[in-house]
Amino acid sequence: MTIKKINEQEWAQGVYEKICAKMLATAERNRHKIPYTAENGVFDDQAVTNPCWWTNGFWGGILWQLYHATGNELYREMAEEVEDKLDLCLMEHRGMDHDSGFRWLPTSVVNYRLTGNEKSYNRARLAADNMAGRYNPAGRFIRAWNDWGDGQKTGWAIIDCLMNLPLLYWAWEQIEDPRYLRIATDHADTAMKYFIRPDGSAKHIVEFDPGTGEYVCSHGGQGYGHGSSWTRGQAWALYGFTLSYIHTKNPEYLACAKRVANYFLVNTPDCALVPVDFRQPSDCALEDSTAAAIAACGLLEIAKCVEGREQEIYHNAAVTLLYTLDTERCDWDESRDSIVQKCTAAFHDAKHEFPIIYGDYYFIEAIWKLTGHEIFIW
Ligand code: GLY
Repeated sequence: MTIKKINEQEWAQGVYEKICAKMLATAERNRHKIPYTAENGVFDDQAVTNPCWWTNGFWGGILWQLYHATGNELYREMAEEVEDKLDLCLMEHRGMDHDSGFRWLPTSVVNYRLTGNEKSYNRARLAADNMAGRYNPAGRFIRAWNDWGDGQKTGWAIIDCLMNLPLLYWAWEQIEDPRYLRIATDHADTAMKYFIRPDGSAKHIVEFDPGTGEYVCSHGGQGYGHGSSWTRGQAWALYGFTLSYIHTKNPEYLACAKRVANYFLVNTPDCALVPVDFRQPSDCALEDSTAAAIAACGLLEIAKCVEGREQEIYHNAAVTLLYTLDTERCDWDESRDSIVQKCTAAFHDAKHEFPIIYGDYYFIEAIWKLTGHEIFIW
């Protein structure tokens, strides 16, 4: 990837203002929804179609970031409505999986941090306890998904789970019960050992024997195939190990995050637009902008943990990814919902390159990091 030289402060402030203007119009049009995607510039509503979907916390996260930056009560009221709607998942065991971090950190935990809301504390503790209950002590990993009638996933762990661990770090920090810390760090250690290849690339899914904990095999998952390198998985690993370092100060996690980051940067094309898989066929141009936005957040956090030239490299790489999204992949038309375009959920899905809510969330989080408006959610 070629690093672009830009006037960072002026550019980031301009993007911040564009986000504020577009999101105010978007929020006013979508007061009671929980969006996942937009069709023809109109947000869908997962609260109606899929109330326990793993992405249903990101809209709340966007609203809290906007509330923190602007103080506009509209955002707080809307974020609290999202949080209320997630309650039914806490009462539905099939609605609960390892993605509790993605759902309750950007909603209940951030609400509790900002307002001290006891109801939010209660929800986040319930979600953390449920997540801790997915721990497999034989394999020292957190079980990812439930079974969907397409085979047993009892022994499956996935790279994305690193981003959910901060819910356990939060619970540990709240009540100083070391069990939460132990489960989170066991999972992170297992991920370092079995998911990260020597070149810094990450496997998406690793299957363990759920009884003995032994490694069985890996699966290509949402990437191109077995042995490939799904870019969003790389981004989850990059940011996820950085977060484990931030919470524990274990230098092995930072070293691992840097290894994954270096692989990400070396494999990102010069144009700084990120493919769906770094090993997809060379005649395939499919992109996933979410991987760029998530990686940018992680790179900005790594940059804060290192010094000198290294700091400059990670920071400027993040800015290049974000500048490229802003100038080439963002829709700034205020009459249309969603900002970041060309996002892809999975390589082998029928549909590619569409707006996805976490593309917007991580893009906003990254710009907030650059402009000093962020409330740290993870
Ligand atoms: N955590 C699922 C995904 O990244 O698509």
